[in-house]
Amino acid sequence: MKKVVLVYSGGLDTSVCIPLMREEYGYDEVVTVTVDVGQPVEDIRQAEAKAKAMKTEHYTVDAKEEFARDFCFKAVRANGDYQGYPMSTSIARPLIAAKAVQVARELKADSFAHGCTGKGNDQFRIEFGIRTLMPEARIHAPVRERNMTRSWEIEYARQKGVPIQQSLEKIWSIDENLWGRSIEGGRLEEPDFAPPEEIFHWTKSPRLAPDHPLEIEIRFKDGAPVAIDGKEASPANLVGKMNQLAGECGVGRIDVMEDRLMGLKVRENYECPGATVFLTAHRALEALVLTREEMRFKKTIDQEWSRLAYEGLWWDPFKDDLEAFIGKTQERVEGAVRLRLYKGSVQIVGRSSPWALYSEELASFDTTSFDQRESAGWVKNFGLQSRLFHHLKQKLGG
Ligand code: ARG
Repeated sequence: MKKVVLVYSGGLDTSVCIPLMREEYGYDEVVTVTVDVGQPVEDIRQAEAKAKAMKTEHYTVDAKEEFARDFCFKAVRANGDYQGYPMSTSIARPLIAAKAVQVARELKADSFAHGCTGKGNDQFRIEFGIRTLMPEARIHAPVRERNMTRSWEIEYARQKGVPIQQSLEKIWSIDENLWGRSIEGGRLEEPDFAPPEEIFHWTKSPRLAPDHPLEIEIRFKDGAPVAIDGKEASPANLVGKMNQLAGECGVGRIDVMEDRLMGLKVRENYECPGATVFLTAHRALEALVLTREEMRFKKTIDQEWSRLAYEGLWWDPFKDDLEAFIGKTQERVEGAVRLRLYKGSVQIVGRSSPWALYSEELASFDTTSFDQRESAGWVKNFGLQSRLFHHLKQKLGG
C-alpha cells in the first residue's frame, strides 16, 4: 500500500491534491493532516468533513498550546518582526511540518504532499521542516509541479467531485492562526488599493472602537507574558484573550509591502492585535532592564532571528546560537507593563521590574547624591578625537 501524508487545510489547493495523489501520483491511500494552530474552528470542522467525504484517513492535531508557548512567545523574546509583520504565518509553518512528520512516522510513511504554490514562502518553510526532520522524505508539490491556476483547479475539482462551494464564495485568500490573520488576493494585491473594511474580522474599525481607552497590565517572566490584569493563563489563552481585548480597540491592523524570500515584492494585510500589544509591551520592559550595550546588540540579534523565522529556517543552528544570547538576556525581563489601547493605538503608560536599571535617587532633578560637579572633566574631554580632527582641518586648510 503506497501512502502519502497530505498537509491539509481544507482549502481549494490542498483539496484538489486528494484525487491527484490517487489518480496521477499513484498512491493507494491519502492521509490528511490538519494542524490546529488557532484557525477558526469552522475551518477545522470543514477540513474534517471534506476529508471524510473524500475518504481519506484524517488526523487533526491540536498544537495550539505548543504554538503559543514555543513559537509565538519565542517571537516575543526576540522582538520578532519582519518588515513590520509579526510573522504569524511564517512561524506556524515549521510546527505544521513537524506535526505532519510525526503522523507520518506513526504510520510508517515517508511520502508527503502540500498545496503551496511556487511563488510564495510557504514551500520553503514546509519543505525545509519536513526534510530536516525526515531526511529520506519524498515531497510532492502538485500546485507548483503542474503550474496550476485557480480556474484549472476549480474545473478539476468539479470533475472529481471535490467539495469546493466555500472556496468559490471566497474573494480573499486568508491564513489564520493564534498569532494573526493574513489577508491576500483580489484587488488587495494592488499596492495602491485601500483595504476595504470587510477584510478585517479580528479588529474593530478604530472609528467604531470604544471612546474610552482600555487600560491593561501585562506581567512578564523570562521574557514571555504570564498574566493579563493579574490573571494568569496558559500561553494560548493569553494570546486569545489579548487578541480579543486589542481587537475590540482596533489595534493591530498592518498594511505592508513585503519582500518575499524569492525577492518578489507583495502587498500584505494583517491583523495581529495580540502580537502587536505583546511585542510593544515586551520592548518597553527590555528598555527598563537591559543595559544600553545589550539593547544595541540585541537589535542586531533580533533582526537575524526574525530573518531566519521568516524564511522558516526554524531548526538552523544559527538560530539556536542567537537564542542562547536571547535566552540569557531574557532572564531579567521580568515585571509588569501597563498600556492604554485606544482607537487603534497602543501607548505604554507604565513599567516596573525588580531588575530595573533605574535609580530614582540618581535620575531625579532633586537630589544631591549625584554630584554634578564631577561631570565637568568628562564633559570637557568628550568627543576629543572629533574635535581634534576639526581643529586640524581648520589649520591645514580646506
Ligand atoms: N506573506 C506572508 C508570509 O509569507 C503570509 C502569507 C499568508 N497567506 C495567505 N494566503 N494569506 O508569511
